[in-house]
Amino acid sequence: MISQKKLFVVSLAALITWMALLPSLDVTAAFARDASSFISEKNALKIPPLMKDEDPGNSAMDITLRAMKGKTSFFGTGNPTQTLGYNGSYLGPTIKVERGQTLHAKVINELDEDTTLHWHGMEVEGHKDGGPHYTFAPGETWEVSFPVDQPAATLWFHPHPHGRTGKQVYMGLAGVLIVEDDISRNLDLPDNYGKNDIPMVIQDKRFSRNGELVYLTHMMDRMHGMMGDVPVVNGTYNPYLEVEREMVRFRLINGSNARVFDLFFEDDRTFWQIASDGGLLSNPFQTRVLTLAPGERAEILVDFSTSQYGDRAVLRSREFEILACLVNNNEEIKRSFIPWELTQIEPVDTSRVVRNRTFILSGMGPMVSINGRQFDLDRIDEMVKLNDTEIWEIRNEMFQGGPMGGNMMRGMGRMGGRRMPMARAMAHPFHIHGVQFRVIERDGSAPPINERGWKDTVLVYPYETVKVLVQFQKKGKFVYHCHILEHDDMGMMGSFVVE
Ligand code: C2O
Ligand code: CU
Ligand code: CU
Repeated sequence: MISQKKLFVVSLAALITWMALLPSLDVTAAFARDASSFISEKNALKIPPLMKDEDPGNSAMDITLRAMKGKTSFFGTGNPTQTLGYNGSYLGPTIKVERGQTLHAKVINELDEDTTLHWHGMEVEGHKDGGPHYTFAPGETWEVSFPVDQPAATLWFHPHPHGRTGKQVYMGLAGVLIVEDDISRNLDLPDNYGKNDIPMVIQDKRFSRNGELVYLTHMMDRMHGMMGDVPVVNGTYNPYLEVEREMVRFRLINGSNARVFDLFFEDDRTFWQIASDGGLLSNPFQTRVLTLAPGERAEILVDFSTSQYGDRAVLRSREFEILACLVNNNEEIKRSFIPWELTQIEPVDTSRVVRNRTFILSGMGPMVSINGRQFDLDRIDEMVKLNDTEIWEIRNEMFQGGPMGGNMMRGMGRMGGRRMPMARAMAHPFHIHGVQFRVIERDGSAPPINERGWKDTVLVYPYETVKVLVQFQKKGKFVYHCHILEHDDMGMMGSFVVE
């Protein structure tokens, strides 16, 4: 009996001989061999399944999410890793809803600690937003129902129990929430989920020698937030994705606890950002690099229509390889079109602003604060009137009252247009619940073009002041915070009530 392996060796030898004899015909074969070695050590990118409507009889989207413990095999060998997930061992299924639809969710806590489920980016009333004030205990079910009424966007969901958000997200609790509307559909953007419309939850992890996730073991993990040395996408270690010769849309979600990603392709190709946190930009923004802070999202289009069978494009962030794309056929080009006009975004209008508030972010690690205070579940920091438009000015002062070093750090931070890692480490992504806002100024200047659409999280660099324009259209108790989850957990958060 010939073993499989032997058979393979024989056929490979035959293939090589055949290729040597027919050099002009070797393209396909060479690709096959080459591609298999390219992919052999990689893992096919996992695509979170789309959630099914549990009650298609009514027009609402009815879903059940169970926050549960599980085991995930990241490396294919060795012990599986203890993780958390929704309806599975790591991350959760993707929720897709239509604007105008009601989302009706039952969330069951099967963990052995309190949790919440927060709809990050959703314009929803405070008690349905799932912030730290709305925890539910092990064994309990949190039921929530609200109409989705905001533009098409890539949002996400994750737990938010104060002091435990970082750990729960790090262990795997998070998922993608896609809102579609007539505008997004009529643009003829790639929308074949998992084929040319690819969700990507990008995270970084650290593993112990026995394959378990390591959380907060170094002092630095608390200071700068928990950063790992292994990137994963949708929970896939070292992922690859096969694409066709067409335009591919990626929905990028920075689901890491603390790491800012600077995404670019190894071949330095350009791509187009078409959406920011809260929806489509007015026009596609052509770029070679995209910065994404924890909590932020972006949708990009990457053109593989001019690629050839076997071409690769490797998405990276600094030293990390994030995703290797491989063009898998030579069939007809499917789509190569980018709509130039995406949506209408109302111009920034500050004439209706009734109030300015200032938020001073300062400190590091356990000393983090906003306006000199640390989060208190029982304190209300700001009162806002329903439907008011305000300007929130967010200042990153790094150390409270810190003089001197400041300008130096700033100079360093901006040297040659590149921000240095040290200064970068203390940039804080500021996030506001229950709203989508507009960034109107960065240090007195207009924000970059790709930050002129709807946002719910904005990265504030050391010694920078960012102004956002925000209208509060939902009632209730909410929070704003730094989306470095260890900063959030250590109190870089405040609460506000809209009524
Ligand atoms: Cu992404 Cu307060 O959350
Ligand atoms: Cu949020
Ligand atoms: Cu922070």
